[in-house]
Amino acid sequence: MAEVIIVNNQEEAGQIYARCVADLIKEKPEAVLGLATGSSPLAAYEALAGIVHDENIDVSKVRGFALDEYIGLPLTHPQSYHATIHRTVVEPLGLNPELVHVPGDMLNGAGIENGEKIALAGPAYDRSIAAAGGVDVQILGIGTDGHVGFNEPGSSLASGTRIKTLAEQTRIDNARFFDDDVNNVPTHCITQGIGTILKARHLVLLAFGKGKAEAVAETVEGGVSAFCPASALQLHPHATIIVDAAAASRL
Ligand code: GLP
Repeated sequence: MAEVIIVNNQEEAGQIYARCVADLIKEKPEAVLGLATGSSPLAAYEALAGIVHDENIDVSKVRGFALDEYIGLPLTHPQSYHATIHRTVVEPLGLNPELVHVPGDMLNGAGIENGEKIALAGPAYDRSIAAAGGVDVQILGIGTDGHVGFNEPGSSLASGTRIKTLAEQTRIDNARFFDDDVNNVPTHCITQGIGTILKARHLVLLAFGKGKAEAVAETVEGGVSAFCPASALQLHPHATIIVDAAAASRL
């Protein structure tokens, strides 16, 4: 059973996440943060950067692991999740970039034709998370179809990090980041699995706006099912879902 917090806006949600993570870092300077891309966590990263600077918190030992990445984009591509995580989290917080990992990093922008390399990259990523002692706080967004990371409906709830084909709808949704041309959107990705995500000690899922209302209701009140990968949060002992009134409107 996840706890649900209804807030007025993204800034308020961001403050809740930021306070929790800032206190964690004070207590555990080498904290391991689970990071996500998408628009939902942006206010939370901004709030955390604000607290870190205002309270002069030492983040030099903080480690980070991102959820997912496109396959086949050079790491320097502005839409690669490597570049996005560095732009939105590493730089504003002043983290040590060498301690922040994105699943595709070890592929060095390898294309889908490097199947074997990619197949090994998933389990290797899970091993590096485990070697770091596991994720302390994992921030999550949610897709309108209930996906988390790139675990689209139908993904195994026990899955580890692995290569996936992107759903056509997700490619269409994300075309806005690729000159509005779906042909520019990569066809594959590497994503932490639901099983990987569930190993984090605290999950914080953020969802805002009416478009997320159905997925949030399914996540919180629906049956636990691969048809809504986010519903796996019900299986987690410490999951916090922070939503605005619009995203909570179907609860
Ligand atoms: C993408 C990302 C997800 C993210 C989702 C929703 O598919 N891979 O991690 O949660 O988009 O994005 P947004 O927060 O912008 O609505």
